[in-house]
Amino acid sequence: VNEYSLRPLKLSEYIGQDKVKDNLKVFIKAAQLREESLDHVILHGPPGLGKTTLANIIAREMGGTLKITSGPAIEKAGDLASILTTLTDKDVLFIDEIHRLSRTVEEILYPAMEDYSLDIVIGKGAQAKSIRLDLARFTLIGATTRIGLLTSPLRDRFGVQLSMEYYSNEELKEIIVRSARILDFEISDEGALSIARRSRGTPRIANRLLKRVRDFSQVKGENIITDETAEMALKLLDVDDEGFDRIDRKILEAMVHHFNGGPVGAETLSFFIGEEVDTIVDVYEPYLLQKGFIMRTPRGRVVTDKTYEHLGVKKDQSGQQSL
Ligand code: ADE
Repeated sequence: VNEYSLRPLKLSEYIGQDKVKDNLKVFIKAAQLREESLDHVILHGPPGLGKTTLANIIAREMGGTLKITSGPAIEKAGDLASILTTLTDKDVLFIDEIHRLSRTVEEILYPAMEDYSLDIVIGKGAQAKSIRLDLARFTLIGATTRIGLLTSPLRDRFGVQLSMEYYSNEELKEIIVRSARILDFEISDEGALSIARRSRGTPRIANRLLKRVRDFSQVKGENIITDETAEMALKLLDVDDEGFDRIDRKILEAMVHHFNGGPVGAETLSFFIGEEVDTIVDVYEPYLLQKGFIMRTPRGRVVTDKTYEHLGVKKDQSGQQSL
Protein backbone atom coordinates (compact mmCIF):
# COMPACT_ATOMS: atom_id res chain seq x y z
CA VAL A 1 0.00 0.00 0.00
CA ASN A 2 1.63 3.24 -1.14
CA GLU A 3 0.72 6.79 -2.12
CA TYR A 4 -0.57 5.60 -5.48
CA SER A 5 -3.02 3.09 -4.10
CA LEU A 6 -4.89 5.95 -2.40
CA ARG A 7 -5.58 7.48 -5.78
CA PRO A 8 -8.98 6.72 -7.27
CA LEU A 9 -8.89 4.87 -10.60
CA LYS A 10 -12.39 5.76 -11.79
CA LEU A 11 -14.24 9.04 -12.10
CA SER A 12 -17.02 7.56 -9.94
CA GLU A 13 -14.54 7.07 -7.06
CA TYR A 14 -13.12 10.57 -7.38
CA ILE A 15 -14.39 12.79 -4.56
CA GLY A 16 -15.01 16.53 -5.09
CA GLN A 17 -14.23 18.76 -8.12
CA ASP A 18 -17.84 18.23 -9.21
CA LYS A 19 -17.72 20.80 -11.99
CA VAL A 20 -14.60 19.26 -13.49
CA LYS A 21 -16.07 15.76 -13.21
CA ASP A 22 -19.44 16.71 -14.72
CA ASN A 23 -17.71 18.29 -17.71
CA LEU A 24 -15.27 15.43 -18.21
CA LYS A 25 -18.02 12.80 -18.04
CA VAL A 26 -19.75 14.41 -21.02
CA PHE A 27 -16.59 14.93 -23.07
CA ILE A 28 -15.35 11.37 -22.42
CA LYS A 29 -18.76 9.88 -23.26
CA ALA A 30 -19.05 11.92 -26.46
CA ALA A 31 -15.54 10.98 -27.60
CA GLN A 32 -16.34 7.31 -26.91
CA LEU A 33 -19.58 7.53 -28.93
CA ARG A 34 -17.71 8.99 -31.87
CA GLU A 35 -14.85 6.54 -31.35
CA GLU A 36 -12.44 9.43 -31.33
CA SER A 37 -9.67 10.41 -28.97
CA LEU A 38 -10.55 13.00 -26.36
CA ASP A 39 -9.71 16.60 -27.20
CA HIS A 40 -6.65 18.05 -25.44
CA VAL A 41 -7.23 19.09 -21.82
CA ILE A 42 -5.56 21.77 -19.70
CA LEU A 43 -5.96 21.42 -15.93
CA HIS A 44 -5.02 24.39 -13.83
CA GLY A 45 -4.96 25.09 -10.13
CA PRO A 46 -2.77 24.78 -7.02
CA PRO A 47 -0.57 21.68 -6.51
CA GLY A 48 -1.86 18.57 -4.75
CA LEU A 49 -5.48 18.79 -5.91
CA GLY A 50 -5.39 15.66 -8.07
CA LYS A 51 -4.40 16.74 -11.57
CA THR A 52 -2.20 13.69 -12.20
CA THR A 53 -4.87 11.44 -10.71
CA LEU A 54 -7.44 12.86 -13.11
CA ALA A 55 -5.09 12.32 -16.07
CA ASN A 56 -4.72 8.69 -15.04
CA ILE A 57 -8.49 8.30 -14.78
CA ILE A 58 -9.03 9.88 -18.20
CA ALA A 59 -6.47 7.55 -19.81
CA ARG A 60 -8.19 4.51 -18.27
CA GLU A 61 -11.69 5.60 -19.25
CA MET A 62 -10.52 6.25 -22.82
CA GLY A 63 -8.75 2.89 -22.94
CA GLY A 64 -5.30 4.36 -23.50
CA THR A 65 -2.01 4.37 -21.64
CA LEU A 66 -0.78 7.31 -19.60
CA LYS A 67 2.72 8.72 -20.22
CA ILE A 68 3.89 11.28 -17.68
CA THR A 69 6.49 13.99 -18.18
CA SER A 70 6.96 17.63 -17.24
CA GLY A 71 7.83 20.97 -18.81
CA PRO A 72 11.32 21.22 -17.29
CA ALA A 73 12.11 17.56 -18.17
CA ILE A 74 11.67 18.18 -21.90
CA GLU A 75 14.84 20.09 -22.71
CA LYS A 76 15.14 19.72 -26.46
CA ALA A 77 12.77 19.44 -29.40
CA GLY A 78 14.14 15.93 -29.94
CA ASP A 79 13.11 14.89 -26.41
CA LEU A 80 9.50 15.73 -27.17
CA ALA A 81 9.68 14.23 -30.68
CA SER A 82 10.79 10.88 -29.29
CA ILE A 83 7.96 10.85 -26.74
CA LEU A 84 5.35 11.79 -29.35
CA THR A 85 6.41 9.09 -31.80
CA THR A 86 5.97 6.31 -29.20
CA LEU A 87 2.32 7.20 -28.54
CA THR A 88 -0.51 5.12 -29.97
CA ASP A 89 -4.17 6.07 -30.55
CA LYS A 90 -6.03 7.13 -27.37
CA ASP A 91 -2.84 7.34 -25.32
CA VAL A 92 -2.67 10.26 -22.93
CA LEU A 93 0.47 12.35 -22.67
CA PHE A 94 0.51 14.22 -19.38
CA ILE A 95 2.83 17.24 -19.22
CA ASP A 96 3.05 18.63 -15.71
CA GLU A 97 4.19 22.25 -15.24
CA ILE A 98 3.50 22.81 -18.91
CA HIS A 99 4.07 26.56 -18.48
CA ARG A 100 7.77 25.75 -18.15
CA LEU A 101 8.24 24.36 -21.67
CA SER A 102 10.79 26.23 -23.77
CA ARG A 103 9.54 28.09 -26.85
CA THR A 104 11.28 25.75 -29.29
CA VAL A 105 9.71 22.71 -27.66
CA GLU A 106 6.36 24.47 -27.52
CA GLU A 107 6.44 25.05 -31.26
CA ILE A 108 6.80 21.31 -31.88
CA LEU A 109 3.60 20.85 -29.89
CA TYR A 110 1.42 23.10 -32.05
CA PRO A 111 1.20 20.86 -35.18
CA ALA A 112 1.23 17.78 -32.95
CA MET A 113 -1.87 19.01 -31.10
CA GLU A 114 -3.65 20.42 -34.11
CA ASP A 115 -2.94 17.95 -36.93
CA TYR A 116 -1.29 15.05 -35.09
CA SER A 117 1.81 15.69 -37.11
CA LEU A 118 5.44 16.21 -36.34
CA ASP A 119 7.64 18.47 -38.45
CA ILE A 120 11.30 17.58 -38.34
CA VAL A 121 14.11 19.43 -40.03
CA ILE A 122 16.94 17.34 -41.38
CA GLY A 123 20.27 18.89 -42.25
CA LYS A 124 21.41 22.49 -42.05
CA GLY A 125 21.48 25.64 -44.18
CA ALA A 126 20.56 25.35 -47.85
CA GLN A 127 20.44 21.56 -47.59
CA ALA A 128 17.89 21.61 -44.77
CA LYS A 129 14.75 19.65 -45.52
CA SER A 130 11.58 19.48 -43.53
CA ILE A 131 9.68 16.22 -43.31
CA ARG A 132 6.32 15.68 -41.79
CA LEU A 133 5.52 12.56 -39.75
CA ASP A 134 2.03 11.41 -38.80
CA LEU A 135 1.39 10.88 -35.13
CA ALA A 136 -1.19 8.73 -33.36
CA ARG A 137 -4.48 10.26 -32.20
CA PHE A 138 -3.31 11.01 -28.69
CA THR A 139 -4.71 13.31 -26.01
CA LEU A 140 -2.44 15.90 -24.43
CA ILE A 141 -3.24 16.76 -20.83
CA GLY A 142 -1.34 19.78 -19.62
CA ALA A 143 -1.22 20.75 -15.97
CA THR A 144 -0.21 24.11 -14.61
CA THR A 145 -0.32 26.01 -11.37
CA ARG A 146 -0.26 29.25 -13.35
CA ILE A 147 -2.53 29.48 -16.36
CA GLY A 148 -1.44 33.09 -16.79
CA LEU A 149 2.08 31.99 -17.75
CA LEU A 150 0.86 29.93 -20.72
CA THR A 151 1.36 31.59 -24.09
CA SER A 152 -1.97 32.18 -25.81
CA PRO A 153 -1.14 30.02 -28.86
CA LEU A 154 -0.58 27.08 -26.51
CA ARG A 155 -3.59 27.79 -24.31
CA ASP A 156 -5.88 28.17 -27.32
CA ARG A 157 -4.96 24.71 -28.59
CA PHE A 158 -6.57 23.02 -25.59
CA GLY A 159 -10.19 22.28 -26.42
CA VAL A 160 -11.03 21.54 -22.79
CA GLN A 161 -9.93 23.96 -20.09
CA LEU A 162 -10.69 22.98 -16.51
CA SER A 163 -10.01 24.79 -13.27
CA MET A 164 -9.35 22.79 -10.09
CA GLU A 165 -10.56 24.37 -6.86
CA TYR A 166 -9.60 23.78 -3.23
CA TYR A 167 -11.68 20.99 -1.64
CA SER A 168 -14.26 21.68 1.07
CA ASN A 169 -13.73 20.24 4.55
CA GLU A 170 -16.57 17.77 3.94
CA GLU A 171 -14.95 16.51 0.74
CA LEU A 172 -11.57 16.19 2.44
CA LYS A 173 -13.21 14.31 5.29
CA GLU A 174 -14.65 11.84 2.79
CA ILE A 175 -11.23 11.42 1.18
CA ILE A 176 -9.64 10.82 4.60
CA VAL A 177 -12.26 8.22 5.56
CA ARG A 178 -11.74 6.50 2.20
CA SER A 179 -7.95 6.52 2.62
CA ALA A 180 -8.21 5.10 6.16
CA ARG A 181 -10.36 2.28 4.79
CA ILE A 182 -7.78 1.50 2.09
CA LEU A 183 -4.90 1.66 4.59
CA ASP A 184 -7.00 -0.57 6.88
CA PHE A 185 -7.46 1.40 10.07
CA GLU A 186 -10.31 3.13 11.86
CA ILE A 187 -10.86 6.85 12.22
CA SER A 188 -13.81 8.59 13.83
CA ASP A 189 -15.79 11.12 11.79
CA GLU A 190 -14.65 13.87 14.18
CA GLY A 191 -11.04 12.76 13.85
CA ALA A 192 -11.30 12.84 10.07
CA LEU A 193 -12.87 16.30 10.19
CA SER A 194 -10.07 17.57 12.47
CA ILE A 195 -7.51 16.53 9.87
CA ALA A 196 -9.66 17.83 6.99
CA ARG A 197 -9.87 21.31 8.54
CA ARG A 198 -6.10 21.56 8.64
CA SER A 199 -5.35 20.22 5.18
CA ARG A 200 -5.46 23.52 3.24
CA GLY A 201 -8.16 22.24 0.92
CA THR A 202 -5.62 19.76 -0.50
CA PRO A 203 -6.01 15.94 -0.63
CA ARG A 204 -2.25 15.38 -0.86
CA ILE A 205 -1.82 17.19 2.47
CA ALA A 206 -4.85 15.42 4.00
CA ASN A 207 -3.39 12.01 3.15
CA ARG A 208 0.04 12.95 4.45
CA LEU A 209 -1.34 14.28 7.74
CA LEU A 210 -3.56 11.20 8.07
CA LYS A 211 -0.53 8.91 7.96
CA ARG A 212 1.34 10.95 10.55
CA VAL A 213 -1.70 11.11 12.84
CA ARG A 214 -2.05 7.35 12.49
CA ASP A 215 1.55 6.99 13.73
CA PHE A 216 0.72 8.91 16.90
CA SER A 217 -2.51 7.00 17.41
CA GLN A 218 -0.84 3.63 16.89
CA VAL A 219 1.97 4.41 19.33
CA LYS A 220 -0.67 5.46 21.87
CA GLY A 221 -2.15 1.97 21.42
CA GLU A 222 -5.52 3.18 20.14
CA ASN A 223 -7.55 1.11 17.72
CA ILE A 224 -9.45 4.10 16.37
CA ILE A 225 -8.21 7.63 15.68
CA THR A 226 -10.16 10.06 17.83
CA ASP A 227 -10.34 13.81 17.36
CA GLU A 228 -8.31 14.32 20.57
CA THR A 229 -5.42 12.31 19.15
CA ALA A 230 -5.75 14.05 15.79
CA GLU A 231 -5.63 17.49 17.45
CA MET A 232 -2.69 16.49 19.63
CA ALA A 233 -0.73 15.03 16.72
CA LEU A 234 -1.40 18.00 14.45
CA LYS A 235 -0.16 20.37 17.14
CA LEU A 236 3.05 18.33 17.42
CA LEU A 237 3.34 18.41 13.62
CA ASP A 238 3.35 22.22 13.80
CA VAL A 239 0.09 22.58 11.90
CA ASP A 240 -2.06 25.28 13.51
CA ASP A 241 -5.84 25.49 13.69
CA GLU A 242 -6.06 27.28 10.34
CA GLY A 243 -3.99 24.48 8.77
CA PHE A 244 -1.02 26.83 8.41
CA ASP A 245 2.42 25.30 8.64
CA ARG A 246 5.72 26.87 9.66
CA ILE A 247 6.20 28.52 6.27
CA ASP A 248 2.73 30.09 6.17
CA ARG A 249 3.40 31.56 9.57
CA LYS A 250 6.87 32.73 8.51
CA ILE A 251 5.29 34.54 5.57
CA LEU A 252 2.60 36.19 7.68
CA GLU A 253 5.01 37.09 10.48
CA ALA A 254 7.53 38.59 8.06
CA MET A 255 4.78 40.63 6.41
CA VAL A 256 3.53 41.93 9.76
CA HIS A 257 6.80 42.49 11.60
CA HIS A 258 9.23 43.44 8.84
CA PHE A 259 7.11 44.94 6.10
CA ASN A 260 4.53 46.77 8.20
CA GLY A 261 1.77 44.54 6.84
CA GLY A 262 2.80 45.18 3.23
CA PRO A 263 2.56 45.83 0.40
CA VAL A 264 5.43 43.49 -0.34
CA GLY A 265 6.38 41.61 -3.53
CA ALA A 266 6.88 37.86 -3.74
CA GLU A 267 10.57 38.29 -4.66
CA THR A 268 11.31 40.37 -1.60
CA LEU A 269 9.44 37.99 0.64
CA SER A 270 11.19 35.00 -0.91
CA PHE A 271 14.60 36.54 -0.26
CA PHE A 272 13.65 37.49 3.27
CA ILE A 273 12.32 34.12 4.44
CA GLY A 274 14.57 31.92 2.28
CA GLU A 275 11.93 30.07 0.30
CA GLU A 276 11.73 29.71 -3.50
CA VAL A 277 9.61 32.40 -5.19
CA ASP A 278 7.72 29.69 -7.09
CA THR A 279 6.85 27.89 -3.86
CA ILE A 280 5.52 31.09 -2.35
CA VAL A 281 3.54 32.04 -5.45
CA ASP A 282 2.22 28.57 -6.40
CA VAL A 283 1.69 26.95 -3.01
CA TYR A 284 1.41 29.47 -0.19
CA GLU A 285 -0.08 32.65 -1.62
CA PRO A 286 -3.14 31.09 -3.28
CA TYR A 287 -4.31 29.52 -0.04
CA LEU A 288 -3.58 32.60 2.10
CA LEU A 289 -5.48 34.69 -0.47
CA GLN A 290 -8.46 32.38 -0.59
CA LYS A 291 -8.65 32.24 3.22
CA GLY A 292 -8.59 36.04 3.37
CA PHE A 293 -5.28 36.39 5.26
CA ILE A 294 -3.63 38.39 2.50
CA MET A 295 -4.92 40.56 -0.34
CA ARG A 296 -3.54 41.58 -3.70
CA THR A 297 -2.85 45.22 -4.45
CA PRO A 298 -1.10 46.68 -7.48
CA ARG A 299 2.00 47.25 -5.34
CA GLY A 300 2.15 43.77 -3.81
CA ARG A 301 0.46 41.70 -1.13
CA VAL A 302 -0.90 43.13 2.11
CA VAL A 303 -2.07 41.31 5.22
CA THR A 304 -5.63 41.67 6.54
CA ASP A 305 -7.14 42.07 10.01
CA LYS A 306 -7.51 38.28 10.15
CA THR A 307 -3.73 37.96 10.07
CA TYR A 308 -3.23 40.31 13.01
CA GLU A 309 -5.87 38.39 14.92
CA HIS A 310 -4.36 35.00 14.06
CA LEU A 311 -0.86 36.04 15.10
CA GLY A 312 -2.20 37.78 18.19
CA VAL A 313 -0.64 41.08 17.20
CA LYS A 314 -2.29 44.49 17.52
CA LYS A 315 -2.09 46.54 14.34
CA ASP A 316 -0.46 49.59 15.96
CA GLN A 317 2.15 47.36 17.65
CA SER A 318 3.50 46.32 14.29
CA GLY A 319 3.43 49.87 13.00
CA GLN A 320 1.13 49.26 10.03
CA GLN A 321 -0.08 52.35 8.24
CA SER A 322 -3.78 52.47 7.55
CA LEU A 323 -4.51 51.93 3.86
N1 ADE B 1 -7.32 10.84 -3.09
C1 ADE B 1 -6.70 11.95 -3.49
N2 ADE B 1 -7.55 12.76 -4.13
C2 ADE B 1 -8.74 12.15 -4.14
C3 ADE B 1 -10.01 12.49 -4.65
N3 ADE B 1 -10.23 13.64 -5.25
N4 ADE B 1 -11.00 11.62 -4.48
C4 ADE B 1 -10.78 10.47 -3.86
N5 ADE B 1 -9.62 10.10 -3.34
C5 ADE B 1 -8.59 10.93 -3.48
